[in-house]
Amino acid sequence: MANTDKPTTRPANPRFSSGPCAKRPGWSLQALEDAALGRSHRAKIGKTKLQKAIDDTAAILGVPADYRVGIVPASDTGAVEMAMWSLLGERPVDMVAWESFGSGWVTDAVKQLRLTDARVFEAGYGEIVDFTTLDFDHDVVFTWNGTTSGVRLPNGDAIPADRKGLTICDATSAAFAQDLPWDKLDVVTFSWQKVMGGEAAHGMLILSPRAVERLLTYKPAWPLPKIFRLTSGGKLIEGIFKGETINTPSMLCVEDYLDALAWGQRIGGLPALKQRADDNLAVIERFVEANDWIGFLAVDKATRSNTSVCLQFTDASVVALPKDAQEAFAKGVASMLEKEGVALDVGAYRDAPPGLRIWAGATVEASDLEALMPWIAYAFAQQKATLAQAAA
Ligand SMILES: Cc1ncc(COP(=O)(O)O)c(C=O)c1O
Repeated sequence: MANTDKPTTRPANPRFSSGPCAKRPGWSLQALEDAALGRSHRAKIGKTKLQKAIDDTAAILGVPADYRVGIVPASDTGAVEMAMWSLLGERPVDMVAWESFGSGWVTDAVKQLRLTDARVFEAGYGEIVDFTTLDFDHDVVFTWNGTTSGVRLPNGDAIPADRKGLTICDATSAAFAQDLPWDKLDVVTFSWQKVMGGEAAHGMLILSPRAVERLLTYKPAWPLPKIFRLTSGGKLIEGIFKGETINTPSMLCVEDYLDALAWGQRIGGLPALKQRADDNLAVIERFVEANDWIGFLAVDKATRSNTSVCLQFTDASVVALPKDAQEAFAKGVASMLEKEGVALDVGAYRDAPPGLRIWAGATVEASDLEALMPWIAYAFAQQKATLAQAAA
């Protein structure tokens, strides 16, 4: 049974949203003082900053030297759409999804691009698709970390190194928190707004040499708007990978991303960033282990996300409720946490099963999660009491 006492300690930072995610510890607007505001992004100062954003990203993530790293418009969505529209159609594609964002990419391939040679592999919330059932001589599109289900791919072992197709990976809630096996990935996308706590609107597009080769040798049957175009006159638009963005970026957001990357480097780079997310997940795991009324949505521990941690209420009296009442219960818990100022934006994603989704990426402090856990127990107990009263 949950502890009903009202906790006395509040998290110093109640921001546990899954995107935009919490700023790095110690962040303030002062960190953006050197932003190249009111200057052209094509001027030396702007281009140097954009190039540094690319270089620091590659250095922290350990991107192989022969991969291209570019900054593209429209956040992670822009980067994924750009890749799908530019690369797919050359061969059959296996579209893989186990939650809402992956399902969105399936819809785009099947209903918008209308690829007739598309196979769809889907798993329900909490589950994952078995990658050994995919054909990697097809192109394969998937999301590494399902942000709305808290289920991630544990590794890329099932992806053959000698595949003929391209692997297109939406890694927006995995990059900087989880290992990405570069030799298994041909396209990797993410947004600044996730693990590094940057701003949205700009996307990162990372291409393997084989992805570049495809761009140079294959022209899709459909027209491509300027915002999606990666080639011109049969050549790669190299500028995209050197800080010459397709259209105008926000130099304020660029400065903020540079600040986030500098913080990442200061604390020890990728190993330290991953460790912070792992330590954060461990706080939640200890809490879940100690309480039998709450559980992870991820069925298999190996697939449990260390960034978007999705929880559900497993208490028998909650599980017995009709779906809409379960939703109301979970929303009640989330809104009490918000009202108390201890956790903002932690309700489950609108399409996901009812529950809580707590961001545990690198910018979140373990001490804040420690402080939050008793509040979840408190809010749960309060909500259950309301339930009992209603039934009486
Ligand atoms: C897995 C995944 N893909 C795509 C998106 C869309 O990202 P953005 O809004 O940065 O384009 C999100 C946002 O949460 C996401 O979690």
